[in-house]
Amino acid sequence: MASKKSSTQASPMAAAAASLLLGLLLVLPVPAISSSDAEEAVVSRFREYLRIDTAQPAPDYAAAVAFLRGQAGAAGLEARTLELVAGKPLLLLRWPGRRPSLPSLLLNSHTDVVPSEPHKWDHPPFSAALDEASGRIYARGSQDMKCVGMQYLEAIRRLRSAGFIPDRNIYLTFVPDEEIGGHEGIEAFVASKEFKDMNIGLVLDEGLASPGEEYRVFYGERSPWWLTIKAKGAPGHGAKLYDGSAMENLMKSVEAIRRFRTSQFDLVKSGAKAEGDVVSVNLAYLKAGTPTPTGFVMNLQPSEAEIGLDIRLPPSVHTEALEKRLAEEWAPSSRNLTFEFKQKTSVLDNFGKPAVTPADSSNVWWALFEEAVKRAGGKLGKPEIFPASTDARYFRVLGIPAFGFSPMTNTPILLHDHNEFLSKDEYLKGIGIYESIIRTLATLKDSNVDYESRAEL
Ligand SMILES: *[C@@H]1O[C@H](CO)[C@@H](O)[C@H](O)[C@H]1NC(C)=O
Ligand SMILES: [Zn+2]
Repeated sequence: MASKKSSTQASPMAAAAASLLLGLLLVLPVPAISSSDAEEAVVSRFREYLRIDTAQPAPDYAAAVAFLRGQAGAAGLEARTLELVAGKPLLLLRWPGRRPSLPSLLLNSHTDVVPSEPHKWDHPPFSAALDEASGRIYARGSQDMKCVGMQYLEAIRRLRSAGFIPDRNIYLTFVPDEEIGGHEGIEAFVASKEFKDMNIGLVLDEGLASPGEEYRVFYGERSPWWLTIKAKGAPGHGAKLYDGSAMENLMKSVEAIRRFRTSQFDLVKSGAKAEGDVVSVNLAYLKAGTPTPTGFVMNLQPSEAEIGLDIRLPPSVHTEALEKRLAEEWAPSSRNLTFEFKQKTSVLDNFGKPAVTPADSSNVWWALFEEAVKRAGGKLGKPEIFPASTDARYFRVLGIPAFGFSPMTNTPILLHDHNEFLSKDEYLKGIGIYESIIRTLATLKDSNVDYESRAEL
């Protein structure tokens, strides 16, 4: 940052240098004031984006895209709005590189946010209220993930004003519908011609806040299996003890599922495994009973009962073993149970390998990413498997490397929660981190030339 100034000081004439130094001292307070002015403008742009109500199920995508197009213009980026699905605009931005034939970098973020219950918030979720004392900005989307989208843009503005020109093309996508599965968002996009023409080498997408000092980074994610189990059985009097009722047959499953859940959760609690490395199973619903206008019939054992489970599998899991457990313990036909998958996402990519991006020295992108975060003064935690789903999976199944990263340290994880917030300082710090990441990843180093050509990314 100070490099330009120090080079102008390298005058051979001591007097000139001294007067220059004096001049610098005199002008020093000016940049300090204007930089805090600039920070205020940066924060107010973030808050402006946060105020656009893009909550599912009726996100105002038009307003978000109009705002972002304006920001893209200010950052000097080429912009195209793709309407791959009517009413679901996807904003595609480009910063052309010096060598456009190199694999490109894609910075992805989603424009939609999850719904909120405004009456349970201290500040209305689309007010982007700034608490002056703590510096916290309260808004739905402040962590997930409007922060990241704006940080990309702010980092690019800074890089441009510093005269930086990328070697490779840099793309930004602002995509709709991530919070409802991405089918009419990123999934439609990766099937498009525009996407194929981009020749993407690496994608950056969302991660999670970190309550500690280390930034979290994700190299894969768990796959959701949404399962329903139905039980049928002989109905009977509520006073009678007998075998083979639907409830009794199903409760045996629930017990087995709970034992399994405990075994997995214990691994996390003891620290033996990270959250993303175990299979999670949670009951999404229980459905049974014979309804009356005011409640349920109490003296009748029903002939049908049903549960819904949200199961999440790490990419490394032995899926055959889990399917066997399901067929033999959780929903055996011998206990008059049937099961059905509402969703069953493969843990493998399209080439039959676990859908993960290597986060070690075998991946040159990883080395560059790590170096860039370090150079910006950040510390990275151990790479993790994202416990839930993000749009990054649509790239990883295609064999395209993707890291999940949202630069927030010292911040409680509040995505999808009440009073979601991000502190102003943490937001600003993240811009510096992306500045370093974009600069480093966009620059072709001699040592990478070999790798780039060999890998044919
Ligand atoms: C399953 O259903 C059949 C036919 O209704 C019944 O004969 C059998 O006892 C049931 N088995 C169990 C374990 O409930
Ligand atoms: Zn998100």
